[in-house]
Amino acid sequence: MDDAIHSDTARLARLITRQGQKRPLAPIWAAQAGIGPGMVVLDIGAGIGALTLHYATMIGPDGLVFALEPDDQSRTHLLAAAKQAGLPVLGLPYPAAALDQLARAPDRVMLTDTLHHADDPAMMLTAIRRVMPAPSRLFIAEYDPTGPGLLGAKMPQRMAPARVLALLDQTGFRPGTMQAAPDEHYCLTATCA
Ligand SMILES: C[S@@+](CC[C@H](N)C(=O)[O-])C[C@H]1O[C@@H](n2cnc3c(N)ncnc32)[C@H](O)[C@@H]1O
Repeated sequence: MDDAIHSDTARLARLITRQGQKRPLAPIWAAQAGIGPGMVVLDIGAGIGALTLHYATMIGPDGLVFALEPDDQSRTHLLAAAKQAGLPVLGLPYPAAALDQLARAPDRVMLTDTLHHADDPAMMLTAIRRVMPAPSRLFIAEYDPTGPGLLGAKMPQRMAPARVLALLDQTGFRPGTMQAAPDEHYCLTATCA
């Protein structure tokens, strides 16, 4: 029992350290996505909330962040940190089912370093597209498979930009311009086609 608690604690500590290193990306992603005061943001694969809490600070008290995170430990940590900071964040445990129950439609959907985790990326994008009203915007950041591989997702897990563009096309999105981004990333926004 003690061993299980110890390994859970160690796992969470590792996630906090690893994802915390990406905190400087939050204002960059937020600016690219156009997150602003009063918005509703849906953060898919929010992890331990290193970026989510920044978005919640930007939207202010009239906005709301839905943090979708299937990992219970990460989500619990994220929600505790948001509560302690008095930030407007609601946690969602399960992807597809949870998305259909959003109390408010998102203005922005953040999908950063998460699409490559999906068993079925097309299904994930289709579920996202279903809950996005026409003027809303999806922001995607992924690790570039042509990068040196010094940090982030392992090479075999990385998704080629062309694959992301094809998936967006297939699932009802109109992609904007793809850009190189810090720490071996590429990013783009997409609107509803
Ligand atoms: C690498 S972390 C990214 C965290 C954060 N978005 C960032 O940019 O640093 C990927 C997160 O996606 C979550 N995840 C994995 N599969 C998922 C799925 N099918 N739907 C939503 N989130 C998923 C994982 O639990 C993990 O917390």
